[in-house]
Amino acid sequence: MNVVELIERKRDGGALTPDEIVWMIGRYSADDIPDYQMSSMLMAVFKEGLDPEELSAWVDAMLHSGDVLDFSHVAAPKVDKHSTGGVGDKISIPLAPIVAACGVAVPMMSGRGLGHTGGTLDKLESIPGFRTALDPPEFRAILEKTGLVLAGQSETLVPADRRLYALRDATGTVPSIPLISSSIMSKKLAEGLDALVLDVKVGRGAFMKELDDARALAETMVSIGTVRGTAVTALLTDMSQPLGRTIGNANEIAESVDVLRGEGPADVTELTFRLGEQMLVMGGVAPGPAEARAQMERAVESGAAFEKLVEVVVAQGGDPSVLEDTSQLARARNETVVAAPRSGVLARCDALDLGVAALRLGAGREKKEDGIDRGVGIVVPVAVGDTVAQGDPLAILRWAGERRLADAMPLVERAFEIGDEAVEPTPLVYGEVR
Ligand code: URA
Repeated sequence: MNVVELIERKRDGGALTPDEIVWMIGRYSADDIPDYQMSSMLMAVFKEGLDPEELSAWVDAMLHSGDVLDFSHVAAPKVDKHSTGGVGDKISIPLAPIVAACGVAVPMMSGRGLGHTGGTLDKLESIPGFRTALDPPEFRAILEKTGLVLAGQSETLVPADRRLYALRDATGTVPSIPLISSSIMSKKLAEGLDALVLDVKVGRGAFMKELDDARALAETMVSIGTVRGTAVTALLTDMSQPLGRTIGNANEIAESVDVLRGEGPADVTELTFRLGEQMLVMGGVAPGPAEARAQMERAVESGAAFEKLVEVVVAQGGDPSVLEDTSQLARARNETVVAAPRSGVLARCDALDLGVAALRLGAGREKKEDGIDRGVGIVVPVAVGDTVAQGDPLAILRWAGERRLADAMPLVERAFEIGDEAVEPTPLVYGEVR
């Protein structure tokens, strides 16, 4: 087969055969197709889409680019959650230990920051020593021991997505329904799950800006899972403003610990419980959402959920003392406050501008080989609908490097709009797809 011929056909609106897709993804994973050709193919897919047969072959090729895990010997139901990506979206970090403390097994395979969105792995690696690259035997052993494992795609777990994800991030090919759905579902199907809950984000800070597109993405992912025998439910949730009060890496770990201690911001806590309800009910450990919520509240109040996070951090080589005392986490020394220029009601708190600003501060990567600074980030103490007085802090930037601060500042300044009229708080959940 000839990769240039495949690129040209896709570019011109033609379809690829399943064999061609399997060949191409296999060769790319084996380093036989260079990034520049794959970038071109990704752009053609971004523009032309994939028909259902192509998408199915693409998902299977990604899924079988590495090992597919089998946890049928683990008695507890295996349930995971995955987000399509947002700003301040640290939900996996409190959610996974909460539901694991309630009796489901969570073999969570997460991603890194993509574009302006943060990544669970990058956040977790703010915990000194915490290892996210686990080979399948270790992944399995930690799941069996703690009922929870938080890892990335190692060399052998969906290696195609690990490479494609980084390439898409650097080539403007992220917000595509077939590419997002195949990326997420290949990782999730490789986990050997009984059930999966998807958090499909919609709004300025999400890859899907419109509700209809988010719904189409959710429907695509739900059908990819169900035809392969995994029960999938998706919640369509707001990403017009950041989730919680922190954007970054180490600061999002601290906020996650607050949620586990029952002291987290209301939106992060509520969304964690909403997604957790689905996970516990789909996993069969709670008969309905109300019982599921009561179980999760007990797990938080008793400290069992926090202890579960400590357990998995220790199992993955991390230093748990930073969870006991989050002031030990990395934190950039410089702070600059953006204050409200006038009194009024907050009408806009733009997740995209704030996400890009955090990226420019160094919390994310502009190029795939870039490092990130885990101590930088933004604290956003306000939300849409809040009354603010002139001079109140709208954002606190934690930064290292004047240049980066200067690049981020205009975005932070334009992210907020203050009006005079009362504004309804933004809904957290818009709907559900099954
Ligand atoms: N999360 C993923 O894992 N993949 C995507 O493409 C987008 C979000």
